[in-house]
Order: sequence, then C-alpha cells, then structure tokens
Amino acid sequence: MTAAIKVRDLIVILGGRRILHGLTFAVPSGQVTGLLGPSGCGKTTLMRCVVGAQQINSGEIRILGMAAGAAALRHRVGYVTQAFSIYTDLSARDNVRYFAAVYGTSRAAADQALADVALADRADQKVSTLSGGERARVSLACALLAGPELLVLDEPTVGLDPVLRHDLWARFHALAASGTTLFVSSHVMDEASRCDRLLLMRDGRLIADDTPQALRTATGTADLEEAFLRLIQRAAAGDLTTYPHAPPSEMADQQVTR
Ligand SMILES: Nc1ncnc2c1ncn2[C@@H]1O[C@H](COP(=O)(O)OP(=O)(O)O)[C@@H](O)[C@H]1O
Ligand SMILES: [Mg+2]
Repeated sequence: MTAAIKVRDLIVILGGRRILHGLTFAVPSGQVTGLLGPSGCGKTTLMRCVVGAQQINSGEIRILGMAAGAAALRHRVGYVTQAFSIYTDLSARDNVRYFAAVYGTSRAAADQALADVALADRADQKVSTLSGGERARVSLACALLAGPELLVLDEPTVGLDPVLRHDLWARFHALAASGTTLFVSSHVMDEASRCDRLLLMRDGRLIADDTPQALRTATGTADLEEAFLRLIQRAAAGDLTTYPHAPPSEMADQQVTR
C-alpha cells in the first residue's frame, strides 16, 4: 500500500490547549478515507495540518512523499474548506472559470466541472444567492479543476439533501477509482459506511483507524455509530488495544493527563 498522507506523532497546541495529541496514521492512495468525529474534536485542525495551513508543535507530516505545505504540492493537493474560498459576488460559472484560468484548464472543463456537481442550471447565479449546499458544490467544482492527486474535503456534504449526498459520494468513489486520494471529514456517522477506510477521532485523539468492516468485526456490531460508542467505552475503561496504531508518545501522553 502506498500512502498519500503519512502523519507521525503530530501535536498541535492552540490557545494554550493541546488540540491534537500525538496522532500517527497513514492514508492510502486511491481510496476514500473518512475522518469522522464530533464537532470540535479537531478534524479541521488536522486537515489544515495536512495541507500545510496550520503550524504544528511537533511531529512529521509527509504528503505525496514531500513535507506538508511544500510549494511543489500546491497544484497536486486540492483543499475545500468549510468556509469555501470562492467569490460570492461572482456567478458560479465565473468562479469555476476563474479557477480554470489559474490552473490552466479550459473553459469547457470549467463548465463540465459545474455539470459534474449538478449545478449547470445555476451557473449564472451569483454565489451570494446560492444555498449553502450549492456553494459547497461550487467550491468542490473549483477544487476538481486542478485535477489534484490528493483531495482534502472538510465536511463537504453538510446541508445537502440525501440524493445529492449520495451523488457526491458516488463521485468521490469514481475519483478514487481513477487514482485520486480523498480525505473527507464528516461529523455524521451515517457517512462512515461510505468510506473505504475510517479514522475515528475524539478529543484530538484517534480511537480507530481501519476499514468499516474490520471495525464492525472488532466491536461486534454492524452499526458503525454503535461501534464508535463501544470504542469510546473501551478507551474510557483503559483498554488500549483499541489504539492499534498508537505510538509510544501518545500512550505516554495519556498516562500523564489521566
Ligand atoms: N485558533 C484557535 N485557537 C484556539 N483554539 C482553537 C483554534 N482553532 C480551533 N480551536 C479549538 O480546537 C478544537 C478543534 O477544533 P476543530 O479542528 O475546528 O474541530 P472540528 O473541525 O472537528 O469541529 C476546538 O475545541 C476549537 O475550539
Ligand atoms: Mg471542522
């Protein structure tokens, strides 16, 4: 397995508080890996680290074999934030055409990207008048234009209706099948089963790093939300076997804070 993302002993402290507690994991290439966990557990902070937008306190992050944030990665990594970095005073079409120009892609490709996220019929509408879900899709269309090898998507399906959510996940898997690596966060556990692989996070720590099927087997339940609960209970009971990938430093950290 080649890994698009390799993180070792990652610690981030913000506002004097430890937000990420020594994370170690790898995200395999050409798959959809989900980063699942409740609001405030550190998903956005971790994604910002991966794209090189967050200063880290210690640890190592390798992206496509390079240090996170390396200039050479700029066009190889796409990042769609929760806040969407698109221009609200421009139409959806002008946004994607702008990014197409930046990436040296054709206008036809820009129009196709809008069609791919089912927004062709909203193309001339100003982004400021679009719904949250529609803005999310404009952002995604812009990120897709660069044809990134790694696509980091922070809660891309929030506020989408079930049909669109289903279509977007299908699109993620189509991208993965063509070799793109997707790292997708969500606080909605029912999206967990749509991922090839899962990182379950709580309070800045990983409590699982496995396939959905392996997690079901390990916890004895078919329901991934229930599996998550059981892992939390095991961790609370001090059963560190639920941390298969925890490095020694993370163990030490837990003993200190307990
Ligand atoms: N710049 C900051 N300064 C202080 N604390 C922060 C900062 N950014 C995020 N946090 C805190 O870090 C924790 C994780 O936040 P975040 O990564 O946004 O979580 P998530 O994306 O899972 O909701 C939260 O408790 C949040 O309040
Ligand atoms: Mg977030």
